[in-house]
Amino acid sequence: MAATNSDMSTSGYSFEDIQAMAQEVLKYSSLRPKIGIICGTGLGGIGDVLEDPVPVPYEVIPDFPVSTVKGHSGKFVFGMIQGKPVLLMMGRLHYYEGYPMWKVAMPVRVMKAIGIETLIITNAAGGLNPKYKPGDMMIINDHIDFPGLTGECVLIGKNDERFGPRFLAMSDAYDKDLGNKFKECMVQLGHGSLLHEGIYIMVGGPTFSTTAEYKVLRMFGADAIGMSTIPEVVVGRHSNMKVFGLSLITDAADLECASKNKLTHEDVLKIANDSALLLQKVFVNFISMVN
Ligand code: HPA
Repeated sequence: MAATNSDMSTSGYSFEDIQAMAQEVLKYSSLRPKIGIICGTGLGGIGDVLEDPVPVPYEVIPDFPVSTVKGHSGKFVFGMIQGKPVLLMMGRLHYYEGYPMWKVAMPVRVMKAIGIETLIITNAAGGLNPKYKPGDMMIINDHIDFPGLTGECVLIGKNDERFGPRFLAMSDAYDKDLGNKFKECMVQLGHGSLLHEGIYIMVGGPTFSTTAEYKVLRMFGADAIGMSTIPEVVVGRHSNMKVFGLSLITDAADLECASKNKLTHEDVLKIANDSALLLQKVFVNFISMVN
């Protein structure tokens, strides 16, 4: 008989399966990082600042799903930034690829089992706030889990307390201290004017939104829109990690509506590419400040 949501654990994998995957990844490096970074669409350039990178392609991890999106190469990478060991996840899994929510966020459970305590999550997002311009950045200080609100929360299913609690508070999801440190780095580099703090809303995708949808989501109070991140944040918090979220604004939704330009994935990649050098500089400083 087919498994139902209530049969399925919130990770989709048993606690033991997740531990086994982590052990497999750990075989590739003697580093034991406590900082994990998920690189968003086109933001893999962060990987270029890694010293002595050791890639672990998803294909070599038994039962690990493989990402199918252009701009996502599909690997964990161990390495050092400013003398600190870090683990990068390059190539996240998206709901719109057809994965169930629990699978989208399952790599975060593997990261936890590897020893990650601080999770830094980046994404490319559309700017809903009319003040935001392409190339700006937004520290996520709260979110609207649109799929979650409509019954697709990543934690739906049988809960194994070894992963985390059944009912999870989300009022303190984003670590304020990490947000302040990131802000400090941007100001030090003279780019404070590019930085905002705001609310991220996740939609399922893969379509970009209609003008009417953008207007509704703005009325909800969202400042940036994207197709990822929130399942990873929720699982990060379920796993008791500190979480920092950053959106690179790749398009301004109100301008898209006004000009009737059609937004493409290539536009998103271009802006991400243009911001790559700045992001690299900021991340080097930021990681040096993260405990
Ligand atoms: N909508 C959803 N996801 C996105 C967008 C957008 O406008 N821009 C970049 N990712």
